[in-house]
Amino acid sequence: MEAAPDPTLQGLTARLDESSKIISDCTSQNGLLELSFDANGPAQFPVPPSSPEAHIARLQLLEAAKLLERLVRGPIEAANRIAANAVWHALSKTHIADADEQAARYTDQLSAHPIDNEEPTSSGFQLANKTDLTVFDYFDEVKPKRAERFGLAMSSLSLPGGIFDSAHVLRSFDWASLGTATVADVGGGQGHISRVIAEASPNMSFVVQDYANPSAVGEEALPTNLCSRFEFMPHHFFTAQPDLSNRGEVVFYIRLILHDWPNKYCIRILRNLIPALKNGSKVLVNESILPPVGAVNRALEKLGKYVRSSSPAVQTIQDVDADWLWL
Ligand SMILES: C[S@@+](CC[C@H](N)C(=O)[O-])C[C@H]1O[C@@H](n2cnc3c(N)ncnc32)[C@H](O)[C@@H]1O
Repeated sequence: MEAAPDPTLQGLTARLDESSKIISDCTSQNGLLELSFDANGPAQFPVPPSSPEAHIARLQLLEAAKLLERLVRGPIEAANRIAANAVWHALSKTHIADADEQAARYTDQLSAHPIDNEEPTSSGFQLANKTDLTVFDYFDEVKPKRAERFGLAMSSLSLPGGIFDSAHVLRSFDWASLGTATVADVGGGQGHISRVIAEASPNMSFVVQDYANPSAVGEEALPTNLCSRFEFMPHHFFTAQPDLSNRGEVVFYIRLILHDWPNKYCIRILRNLIPALKNGSKVLVNESILPPVGAVNRALEKLGKYVRSSSPAVQTIQDVDADWLWL
C-alpha cells in the first residue's frame, strides 16, 4: 500500500483525485455500475475482489476524505464535533429515554392516534415514557436528574465552537445599547447565556426564569462576582409574567425556546409576557430557523434539520418551519 497521503489541502485533494480515477477507470473498463446516489445505482462498492487496486484506492480515498474533513474543520471544530456527538447522545438519552425506542414509537403513534401537530403531548415521547406529560413537565415532575443533565447539555452546546456557540449571542445584538436594563431570560435554564451576557455587560442585571430545578442548579453554580446582578426565579412560561416593574427597564429574552413548541403554544408563551410589558418594551427572540428548502447548501440545511428534529417538545412529525416567517 502507498505511503500516507501528504496531509495538506493540496496533498489530500490530489490523493482524492488519484484514487477516484483508479476507481472510475476500473468500473468503466469492466462495464460495472458507476458509483452514484441514483435509485438504480450500486447498493455497495461495485468492484469485485478480483480488482484489488480499486479496493486499495477506495481505502485511500476514504482515509483522505476523512483527513480532509478534519483538516478543513480545524482541531477545535473537529474536537467539538466529537464532543457534540456525545452531548447529543446524552441529550437524546435524557429527553427521549431511548432514541431508538422513540423513533420506533412514531410508527405506533401514527397507527394508534391521528397526528396532532399542535399538541406537544401527542408524540413518541409520551408513548416511550408512558406519560401524558410534556417532555419538560416530565423532567420536572418525574425525572429531576434528567432535567439537570439537560440543562448541563444546553450549556455545553453553547460553549465556544459548540453548535449553539454563545459567541453568536454577543455578536448578533448590541447589548451595550440596553444600558442598565434588566434582562428577563425566559426559559433561561441554568443561566449559562445570561452569564455570558453579564460578563460582557457589567451594568446589566438578570432575572433567569425556568423550572425550580434548573433555577436552583444555576443559583448554586453562579460565580460570586455575578451574584449581586442575578436572580433565579422559578417561573412557568405558560403562566403570566410576574410583576417586574421594580427592576427598571426589563428586556425579555427568549433563546432556543419557541422551536420546542407548536405555534399555538409559542403564541401563549409570547402572550404571557403581556402583563409585564410597557409601551416600548423590548422582546428579543433568539432562535434557529430553517431556511426554505434548497436556499442554502445541503450541509447547512442538514445541520438545521438536525437541530430542529432533536427539539424535545415538538416530537410529532410536522414541519412548522416555513410558518416561522411570521416571526
Ligand atoms: C432548549 S432549552 C433552552 C435553554 C436556554 N434558553 C438556552 O438558550 O440554552 C429550553 C428551556 O426551556 C425550559 N422550559 C421548558 N418549558 C418551560 C416552562 N413551561 N416554563 C419555564 N421554562 C421552561 C427548559 O427547562 C429549558 O431550560
